[in-house]
Amino acid sequence: MHRKASMTGSMKNPLDSLLPHIREMEGYVPGEQLNTRKYIKLNTNENPYPPSPDVLVAIQKQLQRGIEQYPDPLATSFRLMAASQLGVRPESILCGNGSDDILTIVTRAFLGTSESLGIPYPSYTLYETLATLEQANIVFVPFTNEWTVDLRKINDSKRLKLFYLPNPNSPTGTVLRKEELIDLAERLPCPLLVDEAYADFTSESAIDLIEAYPNIMVSRTLSKSYSLAGLRFGYLVATPPLIEQLLKVKDSYNCNALSIAAATAAIADQKWFAQNRQKILTQREKFSDELSQLGFEVLPSSANFVWCSHPAHESQTLYKRLRENHILVRYMRYPHWGEGLRITIGTEEQLEALLVILRRLCRQK
Ligand SMILES: Cc1ncc(COP(=O)(O)O)c(C=O)c1O
Repeated sequence: MHRKASMTGSMKNPLDSLLPHIREMEGYVPGEQLNTRKYIKLNTNENPYPPSPDVLVAIQKQLQRGIEQYPDPLATSFRLMAASQLGVRPESILCGNGSDDILTIVTRAFLGTSESLGIPYPSYTLYETLATLEQANIVFVPFTNEWTVDLRKINDSKRLKLFYLPNPNSPTGTVLRKEELIDLAERLPCPLLVDEAYADFTSESAIDLIEAYPNIMVSRTLSKSYSLAGLRFGYLVATPPLIEQLLKVKDSYNCNALSIAAATAAIADQKWFAQNRQKILTQREKFSDELSQLGFEVLPSSANFVWCSHPAHESQTLYKRLRENHILVRYMRYPHWGEGLRITIGTEEQLEALLVILRRLCRQK
């Protein structure tokens, strides 16, 4: 039997040995994951439709082949399939355990202590956490009235060491056009990572720019448009020399054998992808109209969610009332910018259930 040791003598409390910036920082808080069927879950931009049936077949096949050996560290099957679809070389692709893993790799590779990461405001708050972990600074660039990024709005953009641009942006769903992206890439003194987690819900992409503008990198995920949030698979597209360097930073086996097989099968089934995408786009337009009719201010969305607020009803109250009715949406507040609801585009039935409650709530004063 071990006796419970007390922290006396030479034994040091490990909490005292933590790096101060880790102790002082707040951890990233992801959206609520209430994985019970009791809730209609429209808070973390998952796809309401299941993945391609080929995904399950691929996972089963991989299980039969066995999982006692390490996976392919490069996820070659995925790289080959994605490269042929995107019209890039397989060496231009780096795979990750979700695109958050890609963001971690890129942050670690480019951002040193006291250096500066540029991000638009408001945007994906994980970027701030990643920069804080590296003891780096964050430079917020407010969006212009046209939802574009103008570096002239900040002092001394020359000191930036890395820039993250979610395009389409979260939480606003707005998008920069290609000319605007090119302008930003040309003005920046540093690499520009275009986070295309939601790009499949619009027609804009920067992937075809990476050869002509080698400071552009593009990250993508299978969590949203391919219905694989629970599986964890994302990737980066950049020039081969850059990918070669970034491979040194990633964990050797950052993607597992099942996720590699599943992700490869998912992107191979473009018919399934296109059908689900179309349903989401149709519902997005219809839902945005319905919200506007209820008096909501709704930003035009290029993603699989909408950002909205109501002039006569507090967003946080609406969030709470919806939650009481077993509907989860995301209430977000960005200091000095505003607050609102970010609502994922679910199935027609899910959105109708939400609208039934909103119609009732918006009639009440
Ligand atoms: C802008 C943005 N980037 C990246 C991600 C991460 O996606 P994942 O790690 O599931 O690939 C998200 C998830 O919500 C996101 O909103």
